[in-house]
Amino acid sequence: MPGGGEELKKPWQGRFIKDTAPEVLKFTASLPYDCRLALFDIEGSRAHVEMLSQTGIINADEAEVILKGLEDIREEIVSEKFPYDLEFEDIHMNIEKRLTEKIGSVGGKIHTARSRNDQVALDMHLYVLEEAKAIDVNLLQLQKVLLKCAEQNLDVVIPGYTHLQRAQPVLLAHHILAYFWMLKRDRERLQGAIERADLMPLGAGALAGTGFPIDRERVAEKLGFKKLYENSLDAVSDRDYIIEFLSFSSILIMHLSRLCEEIILWSSFEFGFIELDDAHTTGSSMMPQKKNPDVAELIRGKSGRVYGSLLSMLTVMKGLPLAYNKDLQEDKEGLFDTIDTLKAALPLLADMLGVMNINRSRLKEAVDDDYLCATDLADFLVRQGVTFREAHHIVGKMIGYCRQNSKRLRELEVQERKQFHSALAEDIGDLLDPVHVVAARRCRGGTAPESVQQQLELAYKLL
Ligand code: ARG
Repeated sequence: MPGGGEELKKPWQGRFIKDTAPEVLKFTASLPYDCRLALFDIEGSRAHVEMLSQTGIINADEAEVILKGLEDIREEIVSEKFPYDLEFEDIHMNIEKRLTEKIGSVGGKIHTARSRNDQVALDMHLYVLEEAKAIDVNLLQLQKVLLKCAEQNLDVVIPGYTHLQRAQPVLLAHHILAYFWMLKRDRERLQGAIERADLMPLGAGALAGTGFPIDRERVAEKLGFKKLYENSLDAVSDRDYIIEFLSFSSILIMHLSRLCEEIILWSSFEFGFIELDDAHTTGSSMMPQKKNPDVAELIRGKSGRVYGSLLSMLTVMKGLPLAYNKDLQEDKEGLFDTIDTLKAALPLLADMLGVMNINRSRLKEAVDDDYLCATDLADFLVRQGVTFREAHHIVGKMIGYCRQNSKRLRELEVQERKQFHSALAEDIGDLLDPVHVVAARRCRGGTAPESVQQQLELAYKLL
């Protein structure tokens, strides 16, 4: 008998005669994942209730009872004693139902001048802001590890690559610092995302605002927001700040994936440039010799799910008419998964880089290949007045000759060198020594030790 004094189950049950079908409940409920918003929901509700009381929309005694109830619920959540009930769809209705169980019908006043639409928007903003700040700390930590690794290996020369073919020697520190700068830009993108997530949506109501004399500025201030949404429809229906966070995450994990790819290559038998610590590798159940770089491979692999979450969110949003649509509930799992992925991957990567072993003797052998110095031989000819194009051709011929005769460039006798160009009769000194080649690249941003030292100092200053 609807409306006949029977106990209403859900806050919205009034106009319904029949119960929701169990399969529908299961399909529409977000509780299994949005329960992670519980503490943000309490925090938002607390600010809302204080404001309702300060503006006289509810009285101070009522507010006190509600706040006490919310505090009890907070303790239940923290101590994992909160009785989550799927019947009540999402975390917002679960908390409201628990509140009325605890304090009676006055609990029903908590939702005055509020809708779940602006409530969930608020929770998600609070959540993104908190997690984004935590991820920034992880990023800073990773940057510090990179700097330390660069600093400790300032004298190590490695082959630099293009097309994964040995190209020119570079300092290992220079190579590592390249990732520092990528992460610096990632952190700038994250700051941008934080700035735009810093908007307070509460007060938008379901979509149109509210007729109650609320004080949105006060709520924003209590919760530490710098700005408020200026349009109620916008406040409840956009998720651009989530898309922006996922874009940042996608670019970041692309960078991490490249770094991991290099760790995987460098730790292979073929390269042998580094050895990962046992703690960060795993064995094979069949092949006793294996030491697999699983952590690096998984970070590389997990880039897929992060890009997936970005694409999924863009797709969810693209056709939605204003304002709230249930599709928006799909904003959660991909975001949560991305945050979990980054929060697991970043510290692991930092640990792994911090203790990996650099195989200096293997690197010495690798840069001993003096074809890496071919450009410098061409540059030498240019300094003798040959055009760069011609010099390039001459050195190309020399390489061909060396390959045919199984010689390195530095093993050519003066007599042999002279055949290619008269200027090569001169003493070429240590031109074909990779250390010399590296030292010559002193331009700003180049790989010479002084330039890298400057980079390092600049990087330290930025932290
Ligand atoms: N669980 C919902 C979500 O995450 C909360 C908002 C529901 N609003 C509604 N009108 N059904 O989006």
